[in-house]
Amino acid sequence: MTRRKLVAGNWKMNGSRAGLAELDGIAAAAASAPGVDVAVAVPFTLIAPAATRVPALQIGAEDVHEADSGAHTGCVSAAMVAEAGARFAIVGHSERRADQGETSHDAWAKAAAARRQGLHVISCCGETEAERDADRAERVVQAQIEKSVPDNADGSWFTLAYEPRWAIGTGRTPTLEQIAAIHSIARAKLRMLIGDAADGVRILYGGSVTGDNAETILACENVDGALVGGASITAAKFVPIIEAAA
Ligand code: G3H
Repeated sequence: MTRRKLVAGNWKMNGSRAGLAELDGIAAAAASAPGVDVAVAVPFTLIAPAATRVPALQIGAEDVHEADSGAHTGCVSAAMVAEAGARFAIVGHSERRADQGETSHDAWAKAAAARRQGLHVISCCGETEAERDADRAERVVQAQIEKSVPDNADGSWFTLAYEPRWAIGTGRTPTLEQIAAIHSIARAKLRMLIGDAADGVRILYGGSVTGDNAETILACENVDGALVGGASITAAKFVPIIEAAA
């Protein structure tokens, strides 16, 4: 099955209103690459101004709470980000797992909450360096997928992102063989869980993707796009990745 490539940025705790000017160049590159979906997740406070500034670009949230509303001080619901203009949400990011102790079950509940509000979901998985060194990467990723992917997932609203934690922000990437191997077992696991719908689910690679390595990574079998952190914050670094996907 042919899946459209998705290049998604994740600004993490970076950016400012002034920095939203970067989205102009990103939106222009997206318009010049009609065969590629381009999306950018920004901090909660920037969702509304970003969505207003570049309505053609898919703006998203970096997280949502699993509940629809309630007494959760400091948290933000999927309905709130949708009202602000978000069209998708990232769930299960490894930084949320490491910093806030989130689990794969939390990612499952957050994906369901986002879905209830009509948001597209990018759900993350990936092993630590210790797990990779212990030759457990495949088992870890399979278990994360099993616990985090909702039964009703399909490509119309759900995307998986494989992000080895040790590759995030480090300038290190797995070999192309390692990336292809994990994406292949991820696809097989999705097939076990959701049947034929798995063929429509995009699986992104994330972790130190740059304009220099994007083309070869995106050419790997079962790599349907990229989730990009550091290189998504400026148009100068993000646009070459969009171009590599086109
Ligand atoms: O969400 C994005 C990933 O964590 C990758 O971040 O491109 O800075 O390594 P990075």
